[in-house]
Order: sequence, then C-alpha cells, then structure tokens
Amino acid sequence: NLVQQLPKAIIIGVRKGGTRALLEMLNLHPAVVKASQEIHFFDNDENYAKGIEWYRKKMPFSYPHQITIEKSPAYFITEEVPERIYKMNSSIKLLIIVREPTTRAISDYTQVLEGKERKNKTYYKFEKLAIDPNTCEVNTKYKAVRTSIYTKHLERWLKYFPIEQFHIVDGDRLITEPLPELQLVEKFLNLPPRISQYNLYFNATRGFYCLRFNIVFNKCLAGSKGRIHPEVDTSVITKLRKFFHPFNQKFYQITGRTFNWP
Ligand code: A3P
Repeated sequence: NLVQQLPKAIIIGVRKGGTRALLEMLNLHPAVVKASQEIHFFDNDENYAKGIEWYRKKMPFSYPHQITIEKSPAYFITEEVPERIYKMNSSIKLLIIVREPTTRAISDYTQVLEGKERKNKTYYKFEKLAIDPNTCEVNTKYKAVRTSIYTKHLERWLKYFPIEQFHIVDGDRLITEPLPELQLVEKFLNLPPRISQYNLYFNATRGFYCLRFNIVFNKCLAGSKGRIHPEVDTSVITKLRKFFHPFNQKFYQITGRTFNWP
C-alpha cells in the first residue's frame, strides 16, 4: 500500500539557507519521506502547465501515515508561487530556513562563482556586484542582495497564507546545533519527537554535522554544501549589514522570531 502523496509541507526557501540540510535531517524522522530532487513545479511555468498529477508523480512512494516533503528554494522569491501553492492546498505547512542575510548573500555569490570557475569563466568580485559603483550604495538590483531581504518576499506570501502556517528555521543554528531546530520543526509538523542526538554526529573533517540513520547507514551532505567563502571587504560587509538591518527588524516583528543578526 505504498502511495505517491502530495507534500504536506514544503521547504520554500531560502536558497543557501541550509535547505538541503534541513530536508535531509527531517528525513531522519520515520514519518517523513523526502522528494530527493528539487521539483520546481510552482516556479517553472513549463512544469506547472503539466498539472498537479505530474507533480504528484514526482513524489516518492510512502505509506499513507507518512508525510511527504519537498524543497525548491526558488519558490520563496518567485512571484507566482504563493497563489499556485494556495490553489493546491490552502492549509499546507511552509518551512523557511534563513541565515544572517549578508552571510547568505555571500554564500549565494560563492555558489555562482564556483559555477563560473567550473566553466573556466572569470567573474566579478562580490564587492563589485553588491555595491553600486555610481552611488556607492548597496546594489538592490543584485539578486543575492534581493533574496536576503526576507521580509519583502514573506509579505507577498502573507497575502495568501496566515503567519501560523509558516515556520522559520534558524539556518545558522542548524549548522552548529541542529537538534533543537529539528525538534521545533517536529512540533510544527505535529510529528512525535523521533529525531535524537544519536541521528546527528559532528564530523570534524567536514566541519559539519552528518546524519546517522542507523547502525550501518550514515552520510554527510555533498561537498558543495559548506563551501569556503571568499574574503569580503569589511566596509562592504558593514554597509550590507546596515542595509539589511531595518528589513530584519520587520522580519522579526512579522514572524515573532528574533535573531541576533547585526
Ligand atoms: P555554505 O556553502 O555557504 O557554507 P542550501 O542547501 O540551501 O544550498 O544551503 C547550503 C548551506 O547549508 C551551506 O552553505 C552550509 O553552511 C549549510 N549547512 C547547514 N547544515 C549543514 C550540514 N550539516 N552540512 C553541510 N552544510 C550545511
């Protein structure tokens, strides 16, 4: 009696927030089954046109008592997505994992930079992209900056879903202390607490927590997770932090979750 079920919860973002780690760690729970790939159903018009049955068929097989979760971080920033998800299931649970916005932007940049380097292409320095050379102000047209203005995106979602349907995960804490963050998610998803410290062990070589499913099976995330960031000019970091500050305050106010972001 295995079935392919539509997700009961979706990790909608944020890109580079730790979306993969969150999905893999939630999958440690016996009642959670993950869609391994990013499906990009709601943000990609071509996929969306294929219809909900196409989406369902992309889901993994699970038992009826289990819940399916998928993650596609592009959902968070794509205009059409909230309405489309609402049309599928207006009571779906939405998970957003965030990191300190400047660190997230640099992580985003690092991923793009690595892609360019792989193709032997040169790329701008982060400082050049993040700061408008004419005004010397933060370049709000730069996508890595825009994505980190969490409140702007969340406000669009709130036109469709009440705040109670969202759970904010602290991506910085998921790196250093994953268990309490996962326990909060279990609660939010109404799951019995099943993920324990046994399931998470710190791997000093990787510098990250890895996952232990049972006595024989454990794994760390791929090497593309946990890249070394390039060093960024401190004045640029300060400028970005100052820029994000008011947006962060608004984000804390809306979500009811406060972070120690500078
Ligand atoms: P960095 O590469 O900047 O360190 P996403 O999956 O959304 O792309 O997020 C990637 C980020 O997940 C990584 O960013 C990394 O810091 C973070 N992360 C959190 N927990 C991790 C873990 N256990 N193993 C590897 N990366 C983890």
